[in-house]
Amino acid sequence: MSNILLAGGAGYIGSHTAAALLDAGYDVVIADNFVNSSPKSVERVEQITGKQIVLYEADVRDADAMKRIFREQKIDAVIHFAGLKAVGESVQKPIMYYRKNLDTVLSLLDAMQETGVNNIIFSSSATVYGEKNPIPYLETMPRGACTNPYSWTKSMTEQILEDAAKADPELSVILLRYFNPIGAHPSGMIGEDPQGIPNNLMPYVTQVAVGKRECLTIFGNDYPTPDGTCRRDYIHVVDLARGHVKAIDYIMQHKGVAVFNLGTGIPYSVTEIVETFERVNGVKVNHVYGPRRAGDLPEFYANSDKAREVLGWQTEKTLDDMCRDSWNWQKQNPNGYRV
Ligand code: NAD
Ligand code: UFG
Repeated sequence: MSNILLAGGAGYIGSHTAAALLDAGYDVVIADNFVNSSPKSVERVEQITGKQIVLYEADVRDADAMKRIFREQKIDAVIHFAGLKAVGESVQKPIMYYRKNLDTVLSLLDAMQETGVNNIIFSSSATVYGEKNPIPYLETMPRGACTNPYSWTKSMTEQILEDAAKADPELSVILLRYFNPIGAHPSGMIGEDPQGIPNNLMPYVTQVAVGKRECLTIFGNDYPTPDGTCRRDYIHVVDLARGHVKAIDYIMQHKGVAVFNLGTGIPYSVTEIVETFERVNGVKVNHVYGPRRAGDLPEFYANSDKAREVLGWQTEKTLDDMCRDSWNWQKQNPNGYRV
């Protein structure tokens, strides 16, 4: 069976993907510098699956360290999750974001080329569609103008990977454009563990529900949407993880570059998320309506027909599942992986 390197695999999406790959019979190697994660997530994945992971503490920007891993582990494909992802911080510290997020892919490609590893899957984002494309987003639409440096690093990394594949016919690339991942493994053993004040909606909701934060501010209720709050395509992280397994199956058989949206195609508003969370879990989420957050689009969601038709992937989990599993993780781990 093939050996898959997850760069940044100790993080939220990486740890769920590791579990899904191990369950599907793949071997998993993780390289992570734990800048936004903990080795505990890797131990937990081993407990959930009953299988071993080879773990390297390494910075993916260190091409020599990556070459050593490729040589020692005979890697068949890489999934590249490693990077910084806080949109607001990227506006404050653009140079750091460009440096860190672009150096990771450049070093990985150098190391892959030198050691003959030819398959790479990249964690991209719906944000590359920019502000102007009509919804639902389709893979055939052009990348648009991004609204912040984080999003530009996703768009630029896509371009770098496409150019690298053009120059090297042996290189295969899959760009996975995630929509809004939420939820957690149903065991409650792994989940999203943001450091400090959460930037994203669901971890904020769960921290209010568990009493760590007082009140959620809903950013804007005057958008041109049915209830005035922004609508997004929330996807259960376990469905997203299964999408990576399908992408790995595919990349082993196909050459070239392929792009897939991974979303449900169903938008939900911020108010619907809060109401569903309260109903499913029987808990209160104190909230107030505040001003709009700069850079937010009123609404976006995926057309994921291509992933269904080409990869044979589709989502299975409902919004109720997403809310239940997010709460199950938070309740069991009020301080995340910290004791
Ligand atoms: P995360 O922060 O939980 O995981 C990223 C992992 O990469 C962490 O374990 C971190 O320690 C590691 N890392 C960062 N820089 C590194 C480096 N230089 N060397 C080694 N390891 C490094 O984030 P996530 O939510 O799991 O996201 C994974 C990927 O998916 C990211 O690239 C993110 O931008 C992308 N993405 C996430 C979302 C989302 O909403 N969560 C949406 C679209 C795309
Ligand atoms: N929101 C609130 N209050 C909060 C946090 C969020 O009302 O405290 C709202 C936002 O205004 C937005 C919605 O909840 O309307 C979702 O916000 P998130 O920050 O959870 O997600 P975004 O859609 O802004 O962005 C996410 C990821 C990006 C990624 C993008 C597209 O954070 O990395 O999806 O995939 F690029």
